[in-house]
Amino acid sequence: MRAVQVQEYGGPEVLRTVETEVPEPGPGQVSVDVAYTGVNFADLKARGEGYRVPSLPFVPGLEVSGRVRALGEGVSGVEVGQEVAALTAGGAYADVVVTDATTVFPLPSGVDLRTAATLPTVLPTAYALVHAVGRLQPGETVLVQGAAGGIGTAVGQLAKAAGASGVFGVVSGAAKAKYALDHGYDDVFVVPSTTDSVQFVDEVRAATGGRGVDLALDPVGGETFRASLASLAVFGRLVSFGNASSAEPWRVGQPELYPTGLSVSGFSILTLAQTAPGALRALTEKAFTAVAEGVVSLPVTAEFPLEEASEAHRLMGGRTSTGKLLLRVA
Ligand SMILES: NC(=O)c1ccc[n+]([C@@H]2O[C@H](COP(=O)([O-])OP(=O)(O)OC[C@H]3O[C@@H](n4cnc5c(N)ncnc54)[C@H](OP(=O)(O)O)[C@@H]3O)[C@@H](O)[C@H]2O)c1
Repeated sequence: MRAVQVQEYGGPEVLRTVETEVPEPGPGQVSVDVAYTGVNFADLKARGEGYRVPSLPFVPGLEVSGRVRALGEGVSGVEVGQEVAALTAGGAYADVVVTDATTVFPLPSGVDLRTAATLPTVLPTAYALVHAVGRLQPGETVLVQGAAGGIGTAVGQLAKAAGASGVFGVVSGAAKAKYALDHGYDDVFVVPSTTDSVQFVDEVRAATGGRGVDLALDPVGGETFRASLASLAVFGRLVSFGNASSAEPWRVGQPELYPTGLSVSGFSILTLAQTAPGALRALTEKAFTAVAEGVVSLPVTAEFPLEEASEAHRLMGGRTSTGKLLLRVA
C-alpha cells in the first residue's frame, strides 16, 4: 500500500510516498481502508519538529474517513465494510490505517465520507473548548485565535449556537478575517504574523466596552498566550490548546490569577484519547450530533491527492489556508 512517510524532520519536501506493508489490527484495534485524510496543524509540527512522534521514520496523520477493513480481537459494535470516521494516533497519510476501536465512529447521519474526514480531530476539540473545558454560558463573550482555521471555523459556530453574545477572532490576514466573519464571528482582529500580538488586547477591550472577554481560546502560546490572558474579563477563563509559535511552555501563578479571579486550563484530544477514551467518545458523539443537526459545518477549502500531501502542508504552513484541507486517498 501507499503511505506518505517522514524519514527526516524538515519542510514539506520531506514528505515522501513509499510502498509499505498493509498494517493488521491488534487486539482492540480496527483497520480502515482510507477514503480521505484530514490535514491538521499538528501534522506540520510532527513533520517539522517531531511533535508527538515516537521515532523516525513515521507516517503522519490523525484523522480519516473510510470503510472498516478488518477487526482485531475483542472488537464489537463495528462491522467490516461499515463507513466510519476515525481519530488515529498517527499513520493516517496512507491507504490503510490501524487505530483503537474506541476512536472509530459511525458517520453522523446525512454526512458523506468527504465531510466525515474533517470531523474526528476538529469537532470534538472545538466542542470541548466551548463546552466541557471552556464552559461557555449564554450571554458570555469569546476570543479565538486562528479564527479562520479548522478549529477556529468550528469554534465560531459552536460558540454562537451556545448563545455567546460576542464571538471575536484573531487572524493573520484580511482574507481570513472575511472568511471568519462568514462563519459565526461578530468581529475579527487582523494581527499580521510579523506584528506584536499584544496589539489585539486593546481591540478586544474596545470591542467589549473595556470589560474583556469571558473565555479566550489559545492555540499559539508564548506572547499570544500572555495577550489572551490580558484580554480576559474579571473571572475570565483561558484555555490553552496548542503551541503554534513553538514558544517555551507557559507558566502562570498567583500574580496573574489572583487580582481578577482568572482561570487557566488546557486540552489535548490526543492525550485524552489515551487517558480517558470513554470521555472522548462521549464528547465526540455530542460533537457529531451537532454536525448532524446542522449546528456546525466545516467547509473543505482545498483537496489534494495523497501523493501531494506536501502541497497541503505548504498551504497551511504559509498561513493562507482557511477551513479544512483534505487528502484524497481512495
Ligand atoms: N489541543 C488539541 O486537542 C488540539 C486539537 C486540534 C488542533 N489543535 C491546535 O489548534 C490549532 C489549529 O489547528 P488546525 O489543525 O485547525 O489548523 P488551522 O487552524 O487550520 O491552521 C493553522 C492555524 O494556526 C495559525 N497559526 C498561528 N501561528 C502559526 C504559525 N507560526 N504557523 C502557521 N500557522 C500559525 C494560523 O492562523 P493565522 O494565520 O490566522 O494566525 C492557522 O489558523 C493548532 O495550533 C493546533 O495545534 C489542538
